[in-house]
Amino acid sequence: MGDAVSSSKTEVKGYRDRKIQEELKSRGEIPKHIAIIMDGNGRWAKKRGLPRVAGHREGIKSVRDVVEACAQLGVKYLTLFAFSTENWKRPKYEVDTLMKLLIKVLRTEVDKLQKNDIKLMAIGDIESLPVEVQRELKEAIEKTRNNKRMVLNLAISYSGRWEIIEAVKSIARDVKNGKVKVDEIDDKLFSNYLKTAGMPEPDLLIRTSGEYRISNFLLWQIAYTELYICDCLWPDFRRKHLYEAIKDYQRRERRFGMTSEQIKKKSFNGNA
Ligand code: IPE
Ligand code: IPE
Ligand code: MG
Repeated sequence: MGDAVSSSKTEVKGYRDRKIQEELKSRGEIPKHIAIIMDGNGRWAKKRGLPRVAGHREGIKSVRDVVEACAQLGVKYLTLFAFSTENWKRPKYEVDTLMKLLIKVLRTEVDKLQKNDIKLMAIGDIESLPVEVQRELKEAIEKTRNNKRMVLNLAISYSGRWEIIEAVKSIARDVKNGKVKVDEIDDKLFSNYLKTAGMPEPDLLIRTSGEYRISNFLLWQIAYTELYICDCLWPDFRRKHLYEAIKDYQRRERRFGMTSEQIKKKSFNGNA
């Protein structure tokens, strides 16, 4: 009896969720690429008198919920900032625990990614990660490489400046060996040297925990991204918060330097 009640509750919840998703889809455009700075794990734990790592552990539930909701909504790319270049400066115990959590999550979630047709990718200085993390990451990437529904892109040991410098070095090498001419260097060529080559730029960037900063995330790619900051701490973030962010996004007018009139005319002509 209890089971029957709880399963029908889950069904009702699922039904309501699908309805909200359909509404969002019919109301406006669903961002093709969403990037998230998952912040506030430490504060979530501190508020409860728990060690910071308890917040990181709890944050995994938010990742699961958001990945699932994004795939259902038809988001094509979801980039999650999981660990920054600067995060290596944190206490050893916290860094070690984060690495262990990464290994565990990659191991336990890969089958679910596979089942849901989600392709895993990673950007960052992967070689700087412990070998075991590298191994799990490579295996999960390899296993899911033919999946088509959505790309889940993890930014690990990543920073925007690091990525830009890496791109500059590669371009300089290619100029030196004659593959690239200096005058050929433009936005498009530069983007193709970044770790995100081939991905569209994020339409929407969400940061949790109420911090109004970018913290060295996707510096080049967010030139015209819509920013959304919410006070919610990452372990409390669920799909309903994501829906709010998308609703907010749908109310915006993206002008890319043009006038409102130009944008309206463009979308009227169907080529915005
Ligand atoms: C984000 O939460 C997770 C990582 C940076 C790995 P934090 O650990 O930064 O949590 P706060 O910002 O200290 O609350
Ligand atoms: C950004 O959060 C990095 C990740 C979410 C992985 P931080 O907590 O490291 O950023 P700051 O230090 O508050 O700017
Ligand atoms: Mg933080």
